[in-house]
Amino acid sequence: MDKIEKQYNEWIYPNPIEDIKKAHNDGLFQTSNADLFWDIFYPEKKYSKKLKVFIAGCGSHQAISLGISNPKWEIYAIDLSAKTIELNENQIKKYNLKNVKVEKKNILNVNKENEFDLVISTGVIHHTKDPKETLKKIVSTANEDGAINIMIYASYLRVGVYYLQSIFKYMNVTQNQEGVDLVKFFLQEFIQKNHYVSNYEIANTDKFDAGIVDTYLNPQDKAYDILELGNLLKNTGSYFQNWNYNFFYYPDIFLKNIPDKIFDLKNLNKLSPFEAGDFTQKLLIQTGKLDFILRKKKYFENFWHNKKNITGEDHVKRRTYVTSRKKGRLNDNFGGSVFYGAYPKIEIPFNAKQGIIWSIIVGDKNESKIGMKIDQIELQYNRFASDNNMSVLKKKEIIDIIYYFWKLGIITLQKF
Ligand SMILES: C[S@@+](CC[C@H](N)C(=O)[O-])C[C@H]1O[C@@H](n2cnc3c(N)ncnc32)[C@H](O)[C@@H]1O
Repeated sequence: MDKIEKQYNEWIYPNPIEDIKKAHNDGLFQTSNADLFWDIFYPEKKYSKKLKVFIAGCGSHQAISLGISNPKWEIYAIDLSAKTIELNENQIKKYNLKNVKVEKKNILNVNKENEFDLVISTGVIHHTKDPKETLKKIVSTANEDGAINIMIYASYLRVGVYYLQSIFKYMNVTQNQEGVDLVKFFLQEFIQKNHYVSNYEIANTDKFDAGIVDTYLNPQDKAYDILELGNLLKNTGSYFQNWNYNFFYYPDIFLKNIPDKIFDLKNLNKLSPFEAGDFTQKLLIQTGKLDFILRKKKYFENFWHNKKNITGEDHVKRRTYVTSRKKGRLNDNFGGSVFYGAYPKIEIPFNAKQGIIWSIIVGDKNESKIGMKIDQIELQYNRFASDNNMSVLKKKEIIDIIYYFWKLGIITLQKF
C-alpha cells in the first residue's frame, strides 16, 4: 500500500465530526462552498442552486458537509483511503443523503472528462507523487464553464513545519501513538517561542493526533510559494482566475498609511496577482495555504485583477460574512468600518468617500440578488455629494474604490 494511503487509513483527516448539522450551527462552513461564495467562483454566471460537483480527496467530512448544505447539488467524491470512504458511507446513511456518492479511488484513475460544474480539491495534491499530473487530471474533469477550487500549502508560514519534519526524520519518529506523543512533547518542551514554527502553531490550533501526523510526520508533503504555483499551473489546461480570499494576497490595506513620498504605490499596482501575493505573503504572517479558483477558458485569467475589465455595467455586492461595524463621521473623513466575520476576523476602516460608497452598496435592495451596477453607484454617490457640498467623483475614481474593496475581499463583482 502506498505510504499516503496507509497514513490516511490509519489517521483519518480531518478529525471526524460526529454531528455535522450541529457543527454547521456552530459555524462550520466550507471555503469550497460555491453556493455561499457564488460570484467568487463564477463572475459571469447567474446563480443556480443546482451544480454537478466532483470532490477529489474528500477526507472525513467535506463531501457530507457540502451535501447537507446544498441538497440540489449532485456530488461525486473520491478518496484514496478506504477507511475515510467507509466513514463517509456511514454519514451518508445517517443523514439519508441522496445527493452524495463516494468511492475509494486514486485521482489518477478517475475517468470522467468535461463533466462537472464545480471541481474541488482541498489540501490533496501537495501529498501526491506528481502534483502537476494530479492537477491536470482534476482540471480535465471540469466542463468548459466549470470552476476548479484548489487548496495547496503555502511555504511562507510553513517553513518551520518543514524544519521540524526533518528533525523528526533524524530522530526516526514513526507514525504511531508513541511517535505522536513524542512530537507533542517535543513541541511543548523544546520549541523556543521564536522558533520558525511558532507562527504556524499560533495560526493552527487543531492539535488532534491525526493533525500531528498530517503536519509533522507526513511522508509526502510539498509546499509552494506563489511563484512556484505559477509553474505548477503551466500546461494543466487551466487559468488562474482569482483567490478565494483576496485579503491575504493584496498588500493595499497594510500600505495605506505610507506617504506617497516614501515610495510609489503605483509600482505595486503594476504587479501581477502572483507577484502581489508573493509580496503580501512575504510581508505578513499568513495562513499557510493557497486557496484559488481555476477556469478552463483563457478569458477568465486574472479576471478582476485586470482593472480594465471593470466597467460601469458590472454588478457589485457585499461579500458573504462581511458586516458594517462602525458608523462614519463625515466631518473628520472617517467613513466607518466593516468587519470580516469569517476569515480572517478583521476590522477594516474607511475614509469618507469609501464609507459613502460602502453605504450605497449595502443599502441596495437588490443586494442579496444581483447587486448594484457601478453606474448606479456613481449616480447615487454624486447625488449625495452634491447635496452635501462635497466634490463629485468621476467613474474612474469610483472604479478605483471598488477595485480597492475587491482587493480587500469585502465585495464581489459580476459581469453578466
Ligand atoms: C489533508 S486531507 C484533506 C481532506 C479534505 N479535502 C478536506 O479539506 O477536509 C487529504 C485527503 O486526500 C486524500 N488523498 C491523498 N492523495 C490522494 C489521491 N491521489 N487520490 C485520492 N485521494 C487522495 C487522503 O486520503 C486524505 O483523505
